[in-house]
Amino acid sequence: MKVQQILTQAYTTFLLLQLFHSSYAEALAPRPPPKKQVIVTGAAGRTGKIVFNSLLQHTKYYPVGLVRTESSAKKLVQTTHCGLEQIWVCDVTQLDNNPHSVNDAQAMIICTSAVPIMRKRSLIKALVKMPWNIIRGKKAFEFRQLEFCYKEGGHPEKVDYEGQIAQIDLAKKIGIKHVILVSSMGGTDPNDFLNTLGKNKHGEGNGDILIWKRKAEKYLIDSGLQYTIIHPGGLKDTPCGERNVEIDVDDNLRKRVELNSRSISRCDVARLCIASLEHEQSCAFDCVNVDVPEGSKKISADMSLKKFLDSGVTYDYSDMDVVVDEWSI
Ligand SMILES: NC(=O)c1ccc[n+]([C@@H]2O[C@H](COP(=O)([O-])OP(=O)(O)OC[C@H]3O[C@@H](n4cnc5c(N)ncnc54)[C@H](OP(=O)(O)O)[C@@H]3O)[C@@H](O)[C@H]2O)c1
Repeated sequence: MKVQQILTQAYTTFLLLQLFHSSYAEALAPRPPPKKQVIVTGAAGRTGKIVFNSLLQHTKYYPVGLVRTESSAKKLVQTTHCGLEQIWVCDVTQLDNNPHSVNDAQAMIICTSAVPIMRKRSLIKALVKMPWNIIRGKKAFEFRQLEFCYKEGGHPEKVDYEGQIAQIDLAKKIGIKHVILVSSMGGTDPNDFLNTLGKNKHGEGNGDILIWKRKAEKYLIDSGLQYTIIHPGGLKDTPCGERNVEIDVDDNLRKRVELNSRSISRCDVARLCIASLEHEQSCAFDCVNVDVPEGSKKISADMSLKKFLDSGVTYDYSDMDVVVDEWSI
């Protein structure tokens, strides 16, 4: 009996020592740093979805996606398998509150935008005109003759200006340090074709998307927050990293005809957004994809961004200080 007692006691002591050792070792083991929370707005949009999904796969980041509707939320959960707590259904034009789940966010990536809708009637008109254009030796399909509108309450002034300002204000309110804004190339030219979308042939109506975007960019710059403003050329749904990313400022890429490119893959834009999270330097830049020069190695989007930041080149917004009245709508 006594021997049995001694054995039981010894065994219990052994178990306790084991337990102490393993929890002590666990406590001393190096832990990975907590994930950095990043809000991605427009997370159900074509670029936003790539940004959100890439951050989900990342070891360093914890994304929360803002989407406009319940149905977009459902689709995003189904396709990315994210947690429900990582989705925030909200219209940025009515952004007066935020859920507690984003209170620890350290960065915000804005991918919302007014979305132009093509009027079907104008498409039919353009198609009917095609044979006549061919006979006259003109371009068969004239894209610029198509007419566009925005959905009720979803025009550029509401979404790209007021909606973006609301997002920037929220970032400030909850202590976010860095805002990354996906905007658009062409902002230096008030007469850019994109500004005519949503207007009638007399120039009336809700348009001027690049002007409203640029005004919101200026608001972000003046906010005192760290900022990265990305102006992509035409967006394409092509795979990542197939071509190099060329970065420049002030719409110079449009003038550099030797590049022979005005577009970029949405996936490369998403990579630039995520790479920007690693830098503390505020900046604004334009970007397009260009062919990899023969005999050279491909350069990653991250490397192109680093090279641009090291160059010290800055985007010129001085026109926004001087001609705000002229630009006023
Ligand atoms: N398309 C191009 O070729 C091009 C070229 C250069 C730059 N860009 C710019 O690049 C950015 C990304 O473009 P993208 O084509 O990838 O975007 P996109 O697919 O058009 O997505 C825009 C997103 O914004 C959301 N949104 C619109 N109004 C909202 C509101 N009031 N509240 C919350 N969310 C709202 C939309 O949601 P709903 O769908 O539910 O409305 C949509 O998910 C945009 O700023 C765009 O202007 C585009």
